This record gives sequence, C-alpha cells and structure tokens, in this order.
Amino acid sequence: MRIDIVTIFPEFFRVLDVSLLGKARTSGLLDVRAHDLRDHAHDRHRTVDDTPYGGGAGMVMKPEPWGEALDGILDEAAAAGGPGPTLIVPSPAGEPFRQPIAAELAQLDHLVFACGRYEGIDQRVVDHYDERMPVRLLSLGDYVLNGGEVAAMAMVEAIGRLVPGVVGNPESLVEESHQDGLLEYPSYTKPQVWRGLEVPDVLRSGNHGAVAAWRHEQRIERTRRVRPDLLGDDDA
Ligand code: ADE
Repeated sequence: MRIDIVTIFPEFFRVLDVSLLGKARTSGLLDVRAHDLRDHAHDRHRTVDDTPYGGGAGMVMKPEPWGEALDGILDEAAAAGGPGPTLIVPSPAGEPFRQPIAAELAQLDHLVFACGRYEGIDQRVVDHYDERMPVRLLSLGDYVLNGGEVAAMAMVEAIGRLVPGVVGNPESLVEESHQDGLLEYPSYTKPQVWRGLEVPDVLRSGNHGAVAAWRHEQRIERTRRVRPDLLGDDDA
C-alpha cells in the first residue's frame, strides 16, 4: 500500500520508521511518504495560511499550496497507472474513524492524508478534490487536536496493521477489541501469582471450551460495563 501524507510537519512522521510499521516499510509492504506542504508555498515566508473570510479567530490554510501538492501526487499516481488514490482529511468535523473503516481502507492501494492545522483547510480544497477522487473526512474522536498529524498517525497505524503481512500472525487480529463490536478479554501471562493477584483458574485448566466461554463472557461483561453503546444499550 502506498500512503502519501501532506503536512507542514513532515518530520513528525519519522516515528513511523520504528516498530511494526517500520518493518513493513522496510519490507515494501507499506510505502509511506511525508511531503512538506510549504514546498508548494512560493512566497519568501513560505506562507500556507491566511485570515478567514467572514472574520473570526484563527487562520485558515490557503487552497493554492494544497492544490499544487495534491495535483503532484495525483499526476504521479496517474503516470504510474495504478488505481487512483483516496483522499483522507482528518477533521474533528468528520465521520468517526472506527475499525470497520480501517478495514475498508486497508483494502485500498493508495491513500493520501491531508493534515490541516489552524482552523482547518479552505473548504474549496475538499470540494474540488471530491470531484476528482473519493474523499473522506474522518475524526479520531470527540475532542480537538491542534492539527491532523496525530490523527493521521493513528489512522495510518490502525489501517497499516490490517494490510496482509504487516502483522506476522493474522490470528492476533481476530479477537481484538472492535473487530466484531466487542471489547477484548483480559490477558494474563506468567507468573501465576503476582503481588498476591492470581491468574483466573479457568485459564490454567487446559479446557479449551471453558477458556473460550470464559473469554466470551469477559468480553460481553467488559463491553456492557465500559461501552454499553457498542451493545446498542445506550441507557444501560
Ligand atoms: N484534527 C483536529 N482534531 C481532530 C480530530 N479529533 N480528529 C481528526 N482530526 C483532527
């Protein structure tokens, strides 16, 4: 999968060189490239923002550098002849980014992230590219970050680990939280007693059926307690 990230902080994404995703990059499963939006601002100060029409606090990202940066990526993709990219704009005003969306995006060959700062990107950028490619505004959660970078990083990790081959043992993806609408069961390893706390007997019983049943109950109980919304009982 190819992932292009347009940002005013390309160095922020160096952290992707480490860990599991770093390995996937080295092995060629993920080709992640961060681009500096300021390379497409042509004044002396490399300005990418301006005051909002209609007034108000904060600055808005100008459309021209975005147009030049995104056109460059689209032109390169068209020349390579592959399927066209999907544009992802992290935004607190987007639809909630959830596991099914991560799984859907992990099927695609090419994603482009547009990381806005300040009060956001001039709306015409989204309106224009919406005519040329699939565009998704996605929110990490109901809180406001200073920009799209942290959200893009979280999304790249959630999507990237679902690309076949990135996680060594695909079984480890099967029973994790959110994969099927329930939270994960609690896990234990050795020692059997730690600071007076014992591993539940059933996990040492060798009875696979009993272990599976216990884990399933734990998932339901935990989900009911901390995320009743996932079970459809919001009033629980
Ligand atoms: N940019 C700022 N806040 C955000 C959020 N909650 N999700 C995605 N992008 C954002």
